[in-house]
Amino acid sequence: MRGSRIAGLGSFLPERVVTNHDLSQWMETSDEWIQQRTGIRERRWVQGDVGASDLALPASQDALTEAGLEASDLDMIIFATLSPDIGFPGSSCLLQAKLGVPGIATLDIRNQCTGFVYALSVADQFIRSGAMKHILVVGAEVHSTGLDISTRGRDVTVIFGDGAGAAVVSATDGDARVLDSALHADGSQAEILMLGAPASGRNPRLSHEMLDAGLHYPSMKGSAVFKQAVRHFPAVIREVMERNAMSVDDIGMLIPHQANLRISEMVGKSLGIGPDRMHNTIQWTGNTTAASIPIALHEAVKAGRIQSGDHVVLAAFGAGLTWGANLIRW
Ligand code: COA
Repeated sequence: MRGSRIAGLGSFLPERVVTNHDLSQWMETSDEWIQQRTGIRERRWVQGDVGASDLALPASQDALTEAGLEASDLDMIIFATLSPDIGFPGSSCLLQAKLGVPGIATLDIRNQCTGFVYALSVADQFIRSGAMKHILVVGAEVHSTGLDISTRGRDVTVIFGDGAGAAVVSATDGDARVLDSALHADGSQAEILMLGAPASGRNPRLSHEMLDAGLHYPSMKGSAVFKQAVRHFPAVIREVMERNAMSVDDIGMLIPHQANLRISEMVGKSLGIGPDRMHNTIQWTGNTTAASIPIALHEAVKAGRIQSGDHVVLAAFGAGLTWGANLIRW
């Protein structure tokens, strides 16, 4: 039966390293506070005018090379991001132009930290149906240019980093394939993690007053987000395993969205999954939202932590609220 598999992976982080010590020079925070609460030691931030599609380009080229394909072989680009290069058109269109493949379908996904999980499930469905053969699935974010780098924004700013990850998803009849995806959302909780401006629901969309109030910076009710994350992450992982007549013990490698190392550790503890079956990168990347799963997956594969036949679970939780998981037989 036709399905889809990940045929190639790529990832890209900007060169500039921003340590916790660097942040403590610009706002009232400390390396100790950040590491204790989040596990983050450093993150990468872009320099100059660099958009999400600029970071996505080298990641995509590497994923195509690993898959043994040219950009012209692609049927569609699905681009997950909460930090699109511009208001419109979507970053998938901009990446398509940079890859030099006019004409193929493009789709942007706006599901924040769960963006890559949703994007992979959409690619899987297009391929399963027989409509398409090769789809580039990208998660890429430039957070740094949209953060409040002052004490007012410290709770949010210390968490986020820039980066990109990409997967070429191709049709297969083999055993190695995406087995299932579980997807959820709860829009009634939108205000616990959101970016309020510019907004079509405000007239004008952006004003000096709104800038002064910092509405163009993300706002987060940190402890509410934490509580929801440690509830939904384990539940959706169990759901996708049970739906496929498996249990959490059958997971060979869990790639959780890199929200916060404390969240990943609590999820692991509640599922009985230790560091030997979980891959984290947040210590060095910060939370790169839609990019975090493909970056961590690529790293885990490069480190030899995932073997043929392993059951790999990608799981995410984030703003929306949105949460979900993909189960893959590698
Ligand atoms: N450095 C130093 N102090 C900080 C700080 C920082 N970067 N950010 C906040 N603080 C202060 C607060 O102002 C507060 O001070 P007060 O007690 O004098 O008011 C104190 O630290 C505790 O703040 P609190 O928000 O209760 O801390 P916390 O233990 O909940 O940790 C988070 C804050 C953000 C690390 C934590 O809530 C969290 O990780 N939430 C989930 C965030 C997340 O994963 N988001 C992405 C979802 S995909």
